[in-house]
Amino acid sequence: MTVLDGRSLARQIRARVATEAEALKRAAGVTPCLAAVLVGDDPASALYVRNKERECGRAGLTSRVLRLSRETTWDALRAELDRLGEDDAVHGILVQQPLPPQIPVDAVVTHTDPRKDVDGLHPLSGGLLLRGAPGFVPCTPLGVMALLRHYEIPLRGRRAVVVGRSALVGKPLALLLLAADATVTLCHSRTPDLGAVTREADIVCVAAGRAGLLTPDMVRPGAVVVDVGINRVDDHLVGDVAPGVAEVAGALSPVPGGIGPLTIAMLLANTLQAARRLTQGGDGPV
Ligand SMILES: NC(=O)c1ccc[n+]([C@@H]2O[C@H](COP(=O)([O-])OP(=O)(O)OC[C@H]3O[C@@H](n4cnc5c(N)ncnc54)[C@H](OP(=O)(O)O)[C@@H]3O)[C@@H](O)[C@H]2O)c1
Repeated sequence: MTVLDGRSLARQIRARVATEAEALKRAAGVTPCLAAVLVGDDPASALYVRNKERECGRAGLTSRVLRLSRETTWDALRAELDRLGEDDAVHGILVQQPLPPQIPVDAVVTHTDPRKDVDGLHPLSGGLLLRGAPGFVPCTPLGVMALLRHYEIPLRGRRAVVVGRSALVGKPLALLLLAADATVTLCHSRTPDLGAVTREADIVCVAAGRAGLLTPDMVRPGAVVVDVGINRVDDHLVGDVAPGVAEVAGALSPVPGGIGPLTIAMLLANTLQAARRLTQGGDGPV
């Protein structure tokens, strides 16, 4: 069984981003900058944002964190988003979720400058992805595709099953697999007999947030399994894939050390891409 090592690939992507960010700096005097907005004091969100700041630093990107109180109104947050959109020194904007209840999440997403939409959640980014046009793609599905590409997993004509249909992971991942010529089935909590569907797959990507959802009997021997899930069980991080799947699958991404590190690496890549587009007008995918 091949372990799909996301941590090692993430290091390679970060190094590539660092080299290309340095080249952009030399050519155009621009250092890509990510601005993260943190509303409230959720400890997990604060940790995620600190990790993103650290990773930006390691790749030679700059970062800013705007820390706002839990009582921040939507009007005040909107004004901050406007300022970040207009600030030429900022190339990527992300608003860390979850947000306090007085903040309308959908409005935050649509109000973020689409030129700086490094989370790929703006409706314009979603529309471009649907059309197969260049645009920002959410970081986690981008990470899954990078991992499959790195391990040279063939996709053309293969049957891919995605479990989970969120706007953040499942739906964009299904579209990316489709664009790579896989035959894609998208499953969710109302899919009857999930195992009958996943057993048909050459590639199974699970992003449901349910520990142990994918059991060995649901996997065709030799299939490629990508575990996107992150669940905290008894103070441990586990994915959506049950332990015995490693004995059946041909390849499997671990949790931790699989898609998690790639998600942050792709955020850096998207920030570099945003900086290039804003300053040079190029697409420049990493
Ligand atoms: N590795 C990373 O960096 C990373 C990044 C993002 C997310 N994640 C993890 O990935 C998982 C999914 O995240 P998300 O944001 O997409 O979650 P989400 O918005 O809660 O969506 C979960 C999806 O899974 C489906 N689902 C839930 N239970 C199911 C079941 N028993 N059978 C089949 N489908 C089921 C849901 O179906 P319905 O639509 O029918 O409700 C929904 O579409 C979470 O564990 C999250 O922590 C990891």
